[in-house]
Amino acid sequence: MPEVMKLEDIRKNFGSIQALRGVDLTVNGGEVLALLGDNGAGKSTLIKTISGIYPIDGGQITVAGKPVRINSPREAMDLGIETIHQDTSLAPDLSIARNLFLGREPVTIPALGVFAPLDLKRLKAEASKLLRRVGISKNLDADAPVNSLSGGERQSIAISRAMQFSASLIILDEPTNNLGVEETNGVLRFIREVRDAGHSVIYITHNIHHVMNVADRAVVMRHGRIVADLMIRDTDLLSLEAIIMGADAATLAAGLKHGKQH
Ligand SMILES: Nc1ncnc2c1ncn2[C@@H]1O[C@H](COP(=O)(O)OP(=O)(O)O)[C@@H](O)[C@H]1O
Ligand SMILES: [Mg+2]
Repeated sequence: MPEVMKLEDIRKNFGSIQALRGVDLTVNGGEVLALLGDNGAGKSTLIKTISGIYPIDGGQITVAGKPVRINSPREAMDLGIETIHQDTSLAPDLSIARNLFLGREPVTIPALGVFAPLDLKRLKAEASKLLRRVGISKNLDADAPVNSLSGGERQSIAISRAMQFSASLIILDEPTNNLGVEETNGVLRFIREVRDAGHSVIYITHNIHHVMNVADRAVVMRHGRIVADLMIRDTDLLSLEAIIMGADAATLAAGLKHGKQH
């Protein structure tokens, strides 16, 4: 699969804090990349630079082979990058239908630009179709406000939104925090579906079991740098955990190979 995004020497400072100290990372097409690391490692900051929330202080971002500057969330979306933060990416008081199209609602007279009236009929029809497609149509009315939904249903809506705009890269920053078992399984199922449909996913989580379950690759950050980049099939839960907690990836990998010879 061709590369979706390449990050080279990405740097980001907050005053005297060097949150990103030169991050190099390539995201390939159709992969689930788990982005791991202890609190404060720089995961969210990295994601925010890719999603147009923080400008970078140094380095180069390349999307689909073209060097880009990503100055706003809108620009990130236009480049095919959708980021899903827990709860915050939805507007709780707006309907499910509106949320599915937020910022990209179908309009009746497109020539009027931002003043064009929303095509509410089409909006609702499209939303219902989408909800059916992701299998959560049963009891959900596209007109209901998002704040009437459970955490898992909200995640599903946010992920559906990313899927329908055929984002090439979907980023989930700790999407299963505070979700129940059923809802969490729903999110994991979505991640697999999204990958199987050819999208790439960056999945930030502290749950190593989820990583072993859905990810193809694990990238570990520590103090603003990437310290390990492994294929899941080449590692195991304990090694991954050890690397996140500070062990040296190369030493562990050598130990793993050595162990397999016996
Ligand atoms: N908006 C901000 N202002 C100042 N410091 C920040 C800000 N965001 C993050 N940091 C700092 O940058 C470092 C990385 O944080 P973060 O990216 O949130 O880590 P992670 O998501 O891996 O837990 C931490 O030291 C954090 O305190
Ligand atoms: Mg974070």
